[in-house]
Amino acid sequence: MRKVCIGVAMAAVTLLLAVSSGLAYKVPDEIVIKRPKGNTPLSAWVTEVKFPHGMHAVKNACESCHHKESDKTLGEFVPCSQCHKSDDPDDPTGFFRAWHTEAAPSCLGCHTTRRTQGKDNPVGCTTACHKP
Ligand code: HEC
Ligand code: HEC
Ligand code: HEC
Repeated sequence: MRKVCIGVAMAAVTLLLAVSSGLAYKVPDEIVIKRPKGNTPLSAWVTEVKFPHGMHAVKNACESCHHKESDKTLGEFVPCSQCHKSDDPDDPTGFFRAWHTEAAPSCLGCHTTRRTQGKDNPVGCTTACHKP
């Protein structure tokens, strides 16, 4: 019984920390995703992507995308491209796969999964993201 009470108290503390650090950080609204220096696009039609970040941050948990955030790094929210740099399309830590795997946290992964659940969000390469 005693153990259970301690567990509950600790959960409450963690939640408070999460809430206060969430408030301390500015959540960007619109982001233009920057290609890391020296990283070549796979095709000529691949344009820069404007990402409505604020809207996503309201509709999805931060960690559903910022998958390396943990209790230890809470509130750092480093850009994905700080780690996902290489232009090898098969590299799980590369730039391409961060946005295009079959499941979240990639953009296309989350959007296609939601589509199969009958939900509405864009999935077209040049209509949703890489607009001409
Ligand atoms: C749908 C995915 C998604 C969700 C949900 C999300 N983010 Fe992001 N966030 C991103 C992407 C993508 C970037 C841009 C990364 C890049 O340019 O490499 C970003 C960038 C940021 C940045 C700027 C980092 C920098 O220094 O350039 C901050 C701060 C941030 N997010 C905080 C948050 C917080 C806080 C939440 C939750 C309230 C959140 N994000 C929810 C995907 C998301
Ligand atoms: C601190 C470094 C780091 C940051 C920041 C980071 N990632 Fe990752 N990511 C990794 C590593 C390392 C892997 C390889 C698998 C693992 O360790 O989780 C990975 C794997 C992935 C995968 C799976 C790739 C595959 O081929 O299966 C996706 C998708 C992904 N990250 C998207 C993102 C997105 C989107 C962001 C930003 C919102 C982001 N990552 C931020 C390091 C990072
Ligand atoms: C965890 C799931 C998830 C991830 C990851 C995700 N999205 Fe979304 N996206 C959504 C949802 C949910 C919507 C809103 C659907 C609605 O309510 O209309 C959306 C909508 C959009 C829209 C349409 C906005 C509008 O005004 O109609 C664009 C563009 C978009 N996302 C781009 C991206 C990009 C670029 C990334 C990756 C950097 C990304 N998304 C990652 C869930 C996600």
